[in-house]
Amino acid sequence: MADDKWHSAITSIKKGEIAIRGYDVTKLMGNRSFAETIYLVLKGELPNEAEAKMFEAILTSSVDHGVTPPSVLGARTVASGGNPLNAAIAGGVLTIGDSHGGAIEQCAKFLQDWAKKSGEVDELAKELVHEFVAGKKRLPGYGHRLHDVDPRTVRLFDLAKELNFSGRHIELAKAVQEKFTEIKGKSLPINVDGGIAAVISDMGFDWRLGKGFFIISRVPGLVAHVYEEITRERPMRKLGNTNWEYDGPELREL
Ligand SMILES: CC(C)(COP(=O)(O)OP(=O)(O)OC[C@H]1O[C@@H](n2cnc3c(N)ncnc32)[C@H](O)[C@@H]1OP(=O)(O)O)[C@@H](O)C(=O)NCCC(=O)NCCS
Repeated sequence: MADDKWHSAITSIKKGEIAIRGYDVTKLMGNRSFAETIYLVLKGELPNEAEAKMFEAILTSSVDHGVTPPSVLGARTVASGGNPLNAAIAGGVLTIGDSHGGAIEQCAKFLQDWAKKSGEVDELAKELVHEFVAGKKRLPGYGHRLHDVDPRTVRLFDLAKELNFSGRHIELAKAVQEKFTEIKGKSLPINVDGGIAAVISDMGFDWRLGKGFFIISRVPGLVAHVYEEITRERPMRKLGNTNWEYDGPELREL
């Protein structure tokens, strides 16, 4: 007889028992970190120590980047119009696209597509950059409005090396940056989207999860911004991305 049920392998629920990917949620609570549990829910298995550290760093990298990104302006604008936190966060998430956060997906896709081809990484990178340039397309994961070198990418790549995740995808991402400079005579940093894309690809994540990484990482920052907007600002104020000033703590040692 045909099975007319649809299936999900994520969480089993019974009266009084919730198991995520087979692990009792109450055992995860207090024993595994939030990041480890996110890894579990996405990948199906708990991370080992190195995977957990790398994954944690990825999620931390994009928690917030100040008031100017589209997602923060979007979320604050929705809140400023007199809407509740959930609507404001949804508004912020809707701004995530090819130019903001969404580049992780596109970048991971091209890295995964090209890294599986045979041949030297340098040659592949050259071919790839020529293809993008000829198509007049921007390289997703490269370039930044502010940073000449994105410090988050540097840290992610350093950690990837230290934790033995550095593989063909990171190598290709770096080679693409070099070839773009050679071919176009212009230097573009690998931004945090590109950095995350390369590392998650070397960690074996499917590129289709790319935007998910950014959303998971950025929503806590958006919650903080919306809360600040609601509690500190007047409704429907003149909300611009230049007429602002940071007044939080000075840089402090960790
Ligand atoms: C993020 C981004 C919008 C920042 O752009 P910016 O520094 O303000 O630069 P501009 O949009 O003014 O572009 C300046 C020049 O650099 C080029 N450029 C910028 N990023 C490029 C990229 N990723 N690939 C190819 N060329 C790029 C532009 O085509 C433009 O060239 P031109 O002067 O010949 O017209 C841009 O780099 C981009 O679109 N990157 C791809 C998407 C991405 O990775 N987003 C995640 C950001 S964290």
